[in-house]
Amino acid sequence: MATIRDVARLAGVSVATVSRVINKTDSVNPETAAQVLKAIEQLQYEPNAVARGLAGKKMGIIALILPDILNPFFPALARGVEDVAQKKGLTVILGNSDDLGLKESTYIKDLKKKYVDGFIFASNTIREEDVESLRKEGIPIVLLDRGLNTASCPVIRSNNRAGAKLAVQHLIERGCQKIAHIYGPQEFITARDRLLGYEEVVGELEGYSPSLMVSGKFDIESGRQGVEHLLKRHPQVDGIFAGNDLMAIGALKALRERGILVPEQVKVCGFDGISLTEITEPELTTVAQPIYEMGGLAARILLNEIEGGVRENTIIELDVTLIPRKSTQ
Ligand code: RIB
Repeated sequence: MATIRDVARLAGVSVATVSRVINKTDSVNPETAAQVLKAIEQLQYEPNAVARGLAGKKMGIIALILPDILNPFFPALARGVEDVAQKKGLTVILGNSDDLGLKESTYIKDLKKKYVDGFIFASNTIREEDVESLRKEGIPIVLLDRGLNTASCPVIRSNNRAGAKLAVQHLIERGCQKIAHIYGPQEFITARDRLLGYEEVVGELEGYSPSLMVSGKFDIESGRQGVEHLLKRHPQVDGIFAGNDLMAIGALKALRERGILVPEQVKVCGFDGISLTEITEPELTTVAQPIYEMGGLAARILLNEIEGGVRENTIIELDVTLIPRKSTQ
């Protein structure tokens, strides 16, 4: 027997929209309503009271699955989502995926049972089939930041490649000639695009060598270790672009431990724009992402679809801003 989810899938709308057409609770765009009614007729769907009460009813809950809220970037993102959702009277359930695909699939399975109205994932490990299955069940999903380059749901992130170029060009303008890069985990599209932006600019410099790049884990310790490795290979490094602010903070720590003066001897630039960069010694130059705005935009796009709007399966890259401070003066 056809369920409300079958109707939503066939009509290409959310379950909540089907419920609104059946219960005539809120106004629905006439074309959308016609699509839903056609699907109901085609499937001979019979809404039963209990199923209608549960499955179709908007629960007023959205799920936000982030990699790790211990990294200050993600709470700022979550705040942007929650402030928009809360204005619409929705509750946000937060989960940490630790960038583990299995954890993400478990969240999807468990939260679907709680009839959440939609998902926002900041994930590089969510699988295309998970996105597809949610879409087919009429459950809206939006990918944020590390999201896949997918064609089946909206993706919102910063223009990471352009931001990396901004960072490196700034270091060059500040007189750096031997510029290193501590790059984030390359399974993340954000880290990959920043490395590409770095290479695009330094590749033109005399004396550039791939050994000026060292891997990091987007955390403080890997930034500290990255400087140790870099200075063993290239003691004459005079500029460091770190793929995120936590690694840049680790780099400042390592340079200070070695008695190397920042910015006099080595200039350092990070990426993200987390508030910690305002209190480091020296204050850290960074490329600020519109973190709060990204979260808010993801929430608005998701809520639009939950309320019956049309899904735009586009990749939206927001501009970033260079914030020069003492670490590159
Ligand atoms: O600091 C965490 C990093 O992971 C950020 O740069 C963000 O873009 C995410 O990809």
